[in-house]
Amino acid sequence: MTVDEMTIAQASTVFADYDAYTDESYFHRACTLLRREAPIPLVEVEGFPPFYALTRHGDVMEAERNPEVFRNTAQPVLAEVERQKLMSQAGDLATLVHLDDPEHRKYRAVTADWFQPSSLARLDGRIAELARRAVDRMAELGGECDFAVDIATPMPLEVILSILGLPEADYPRMLDLTRELFQGADPEFQRGKSFEEFMTVMYDFFGYFGALVDERRARPTEDLASVLANAVVDGEPILPFQQISYYVIIATAGHDTTSFTMTGGLQALLENPDQLERLRHDPSLIATAADEMIRWVSPVRHFLRHVVSPAEISGQRFEVGDKLLLSYWSANRDEDVFGDPFRFDVGRKPNRHLAFGFGAHYCLGALLAKMEIRALFAELIPRLRSIEPAGPAELSRSIFVGGHKHLPIRYEIA
Ligand code: HEM
Repeated sequence: MTVDEMTIAQASTVFADYDAYTDESYFHRACTLLRREAPIPLVEVEGFPPFYALTRHGDVMEAERNPEVFRNTAQPVLAEVERQKLMSQAGDLATLVHLDDPEHRKYRAVTADWFQPSSLARLDGRIAELARRAVDRMAELGGECDFAVDIATPMPLEVILSILGLPEADYPRMLDLTRELFQGADPEFQRGKSFEEFMTVMYDFFGYFGALVDERRARPTEDLASVLANAVVDGEPILPFQQISYYVIIATAGHDTTSFTMTGGLQALLENPDQLERLRHDPSLIATAADEMIRWVSPVRHFLRHVVSPAEISGQRFEVGDKLLLSYWSANRDEDVFGDPFRFDVGRKPNRHLAFGFGAHYCLGALLAKMEIRALFAELIPRLRSIEPAGPAELSRSIFVGGHKHLPIRYEIA
């Protein structure tokens, strides 16, 4: 279906259509139409609560800039009505993205220092070493691999879980749990179709991190897990539910997002050989290339906000209780902000993408993610002699955090 054949009503359903997220070109054609013709559609899809979708960069920014009106509440992600009801009955998580100020600010302060440039600078050497090992691994694999599975998944997983302080033996388990949580609608990763099975994933997280809290309280070490286990907010030990939720967001948000960006970034280079050549000849472009990969992939497809007092964005009125979906994937292709937005440009500057959000909830790990992506490509590009697809790339079936789950490649590497 071309943009001209698609109706606005059809286009607006993409945000609640799991399959649409597996077809990048379809998704973007729909969003292009919406940005042009109906940038804030009211989306009514059976099974989902009605919501407005913000498709333009400026409108997403407007919502991000006013967190006191557009709040995260305990439901920051779009979910089916029935599923949301069951989740709330079981007890919504209380991670940073589930909280609003003033609690949010206090809880964020608990770990904020760990993700500041001065703290992360200490990890530079370690991240470079992991990037080297990742590319060595490509060489060992003998010229063919699934870049998503073999290379882009293990490196960010190791970075964040080692900051947290988890034993290496537990990394595969954390990976499985993250995938079951974020990719629960994809048959390849889901534990089961039922809500009850999904909830066992949450119970596993709670069981695992509950034991970790006990351990780090008894024997604190220098890691982030010990900081969380012994954290104090308003002079009181952090509440147990908030505490476990905190572990969950650090352990999960910290790797799938970055892995998807690395894989989607390489896929974009494969599809744009001129940009690969450009990067090869001018390694000083690595920082802008990483930013462009993040814009291009936008692995966090959306967050949801809830209107708590009557408001307006670009002439659209909102009433108390309305839900707004902030489509980062669409905003990052906005023609009004990005010249030639569908061109993958490793030298793009400025690049005011919203892939990390903006404002109070701006991604805590943004700098860490950029360091990892830069390090991997800084190591890979000079060693790459040739590269080509070795099979079809595949996107995950997810409306929240998503990207390429498979990218088979054939290559020669030094
Ligand atoms: C390319 C990789 C990543 C992308 C695209 C990404 C994207 C995002 C987005 C869109 C938000 C919400 C922002 C908003 O609501 O305005 C967010 C929040 C968050 N991210 Fe990331 N993220 C990435 C990597 C990471 C990493 C490596 C960590 C490691 C700790 C991390 C931890 C978090 C946390 C803790 C929050 C919640 C912040 C808050 O609510 O105050 N993310 N991220």
